[in-house]
Amino acid sequence: MKKIFEFSLLDEEGQPFTFQDLLGNYSVIYFYPKAGTSGCTLEAQQFNELFEQFDGHIIGVSPGSVKALSSFRKKYGLKFKLLSDSKKELAQALGIVKDGKLIRSTFILDPWGRIRKEWINVKVDGHARQVLEVYRKIKEEDFSINPSILQRRAFRGLRNDPIEDEKLLRLIEAAHLAPSCFNKQPWRFVVVRSKENLKKLHEALSSGNYWMKYAPALIIVHTRDDFDCQLSDDRNYALFDTGLAVGFLLVQATQMGLVAHPVAGYDPIKVKELFGIDGRIVTLIAVGKWGRFEQLNEKHLELERSPRNRREISEIAEFL
Ligand SMILES: Cc1cc2nc3c(=O)[nH]c(=O)nc-3n(C[C@H](O)[C@H](O)[C@H](O)COP(=O)(O)O)c2cc1C
Repeated sequence: MKKIFEFSLLDEEGQPFTFQDLLGNYSVIYFYPKAGTSGCTLEAQQFNELFEQFDGHIIGVSPGSVKALSSFRKKYGLKFKLLSDSKKELAQALGIVKDGKLIRSTFILDPWGRIRKEWINVKVDGHARQVLEVYRKIKEEDFSINPSILQRRAFRGLRNDPIEDEKLLRLIEAAHLAPSCFNKQPWRFVVVRSKENLKKLHEALSSGNYWMKYAPALIIVHTRDDFDCQLSDDRNYALFDTGLAVGFLLVQATQMGLVAHPVAGYDPIKVKELFGIDGRIVTLIAVGKWGRFEQLNEKHLELERSPRNRREISEIAEFL
């Protein structure tokens, strides 16, 4: 996603306003050619009417001088800041200068400074309201729970279709972006997907995990305490950080339309022996496409359709 680059401009009071001032909030930054002309006045007035609905995060930018902006703001009682991009540097960087002229444009930025929506060559009347609609929609979507977190379930009805190595690698890449204590990255993965090795690993599964034999890939996740921080009061972070990495992997898999189901039902000693692993086998993850249920027993078939079961939030969290 495109970002607004680092800048520092003067506002209508001659005070510096920088890129940092935009971070942390959703905001609208709109560019207009000349303060005081009829189109620019109408646009400013229409944004001004919606100032509170934009949570006060509107910024107007034009090439005009600090003095011109100051009198424009006063004359029309504008509540938002006006910045002077006198050399059109910011406008140039955003690609909205043509033949030396600024093209009327609007950008919605998110708290990370990413441009989430842009309007280039704006028609003034009604524009502010249109921007408000999109601004609200973006905020609403961002505030909802991540769709892949919502969709993810411990599904067992796997198709046997092979999964490309490219996709399996993408899962590992996502896991590897997890945070860890002092960036120790204690997680280790063995991606098992050849028929021969899968068969070997099947020997270590508990009988209740029979359904994993249909998975085209099983990922062995292992770590060692000495791969990560070992801090006071038994805080060995290897398991914790490896769990974070697995969490990332599961969410990425769901986004890619794949089931990724971690289990504890296997013989860890056997897994270690079979694959020559030194350390703790944290989990095995079954990966595959969803949609075959004939192999499932009645209990598992029922679970496949059952709603998610969670304790009440009040049982697991308190706000002090
Ligand atoms: C550490 C761990 C071990 C699990 N072990 C098994 C297992 O051996 N067999 C199995 O079918 N599911 C296993 N699960 C899946 C859980 O039963 C499942 O995540 C839980 O019931 C919540 O359901 P949901 O993931 O659909 O929200 C395990 C999950 C985790 C995180």
